[in-house]
Amino acid sequence: MQDKVLELAIRRGFIYPSYEIYGGVGGFYDYAPLGAILKKKIEDKWRKIFCIEEGFYEIHCPTIAPEEVFIASGHVKNFVDPLVTCENCRESFRADHLIEESMNISASNMSYEEMSKLVKQISCPNCGKKAFGDVYSYNLMFKTAIGPGGKRTGYLRPETAQNIFILFNRLYEFSRKKLPFGITQIGKAYRNEISPRQGLIRLREFTQAELEYFFDPRNESIDRFKLYENEKLRLLTRENKEFEITAKEAVEKGILINEIFGYFLALTKRFLVEVGIDEKRIRFRQHLKEELAHYARDCWDAEVFTERYGYIEVVGIADRGDYDLKAHERHSNVEMKAFVSYEKPVTIKMKVFELNLKEIGKTFRKKAKEIIKELENADEKLIEEFEKKGFVKVCNEVLDSRFLKVKEVEKKVHGEKVVPHVIEPSFGIDRILYCVLESAYRERNGKKILSFKPDIAPISVAVFPLVSKDELKDIALELLRKIRARGIYAIYDEKDSIGRRYARVDEIGVPFAITVDFDTLKDSTVTVRFRDTTEQVRISTAEVVDVVEELVNGKIKFEELKMKK
Ligand code: ATP
Ligand code: GLY
Repeated sequence: MQDKVLELAIRRGFIYPSYEIYGGVGGFYDYAPLGAILKKKIEDKWRKIFCIEEGFYEIHCPTIAPEEVFIASGHVKNFVDPLVTCENCRESFRADHLIEESMNISASNMSYEEMSKLVKQISCPNCGKKAFGDVYSYNLMFKTAIGPGGKRTGYLRPETAQNIFILFNRLYEFSRKKLPFGITQIGKAYRNEISPRQGLIRLREFTQAELEYFFDPRNESIDRFKLYENEKLRLLTRENKEFEITAKEAVEKGILINEIFGYFLALTKRFLVEVGIDEKRIRFRQHLKEELAHYARDCWDAEVFTERYGYIEVVGIADRGDYDLKAHERHSNVEMKAFVSYEKPVTIKMKVFELNLKEIGKTFRKKAKEIIKELENADEKLIEEFEKKGFVKVCNEVLDSRFLKVKEVEKKVHGEKVVPHVIEPSFGIDRILYCVLESAYRERNGKKILSFKPDIAPISVAVFPLVSKDELKDIALELLRKIRARGIYAIYDEKDSIGRRYARVDEIGVPFAITVDFDTLKDSTVTVRFRDTTEQVRISTAEVVDVVEELVNGKIKFEELKMKK
């Protein structure tokens, strides 16, 4: 199945293996003319659902970042796979996968030492020799040097998310300092995958569409959940139980930890269905504990069943908690917090310094002002230090009980600073595009068809003159111009028989074909043919552009149009 889909996709201009004339490089694909439109339409559908309808904004950031970013995020240390190289043929493999496949035992909790012992007993799948060295840690990030002389190390980002975390303070301000808010990014991510042999599924350069949803951890509800609470979700839990349940029930039973998860799982399902993936093929699988990424507290993958690969992960929906903001706060020394107001102000007792201003002024003279400012803004830690030691060091001066004492005061507090938590739906656009292609693939009377949804099909309309005669061609070309002027991708073809032309456009998934024939000259009507049923209706030339626009946007279905006529 996959080979047929891939063959069609390459032959008809959806994707090309990259750098083909130089022998190709694993893990890279080009989007050919039709694939580039298809990809853009999938991304635009994502934008509609995850940005426009939600009121979230998209940002675009550089794909190269200095090393500090990924030291802070934990990727330099943790974004690694256990690798082993055959000392005979130099082929490398993921050690845990190799052990699992050859010995049929789980290696996910094994140490590198344990794995090193086991791989010595395994023959290399490439050359057949037992020649594996020790297992070592392989970082999947592409390393580079920023600027000449290699002064600054950089990495190509392995996820788009980090840009959003780094910009938290600016984005919080942009969002008028209110939680919750969401920020999205669609862009390239890079991973130097070990064996990228699965077409669009495992690429070294791929496109992610990510949403970082920042919220107050004490309020895990989401108003709009009502809209989706009855959506049925197929879940496969960590305990290996698979069942269908509504989003609401899954939250109530504690299977999903909060409404936000329920909401984004349901929204993810809606998106996947809207781009053309059969809902029966979609399930959400909870990560096993040992599978969780270093930043995640919980994670549910949206998986799609494919004929060729079985279930594949296309989206990861992770609870990142406060991991990333805290990590960047720690490494950059820039506070990354939001102020959350209480419903009603609360009165609290707190300790402050009572200052002997006269003594401070007399003793420290010019420096007094600076010292007073520090002491008035003293935090709990400094007060505690004074209570313990009987003195504090401020602005390089030692101040003891001659200058200050601790007193307890009552204070009205209107809110507090919190580190927001983050839930992140992370979509792999290339994997989704493959699933869309596979879902659309059909064979009819020995001919291949891509049955894309009308609003996802790269080319929406084909316009044909029945035969290549000027009087028919002129009308067809005028219709083509008008359709294109509406922003609809349309093609024109006058070569070969009409049957062959229909077959050509069916194969690239064009949903509607308009044919200008000899009756057009008599009664100013044309035929509109629907790819999936091959049925046709006659529509007047005056109306046809409007009708086709409605068909393409899904405002009207072809069957409804047929009934009307
Ligand atoms: P896998 O386990 O398959 O390697 P992952 O768990 O590492 O995937 P995430 O880190 O959760 O994937 O990335 C989020 C999404 O990005 C994935 O759901 C997937 O759709 C996409 N993605 C990740 N790695 C690749 C890749 N090498 N090629 C194409 N898409 C990818
Ligand atoms: N941002 C999730 C991931 O790429 O792993």
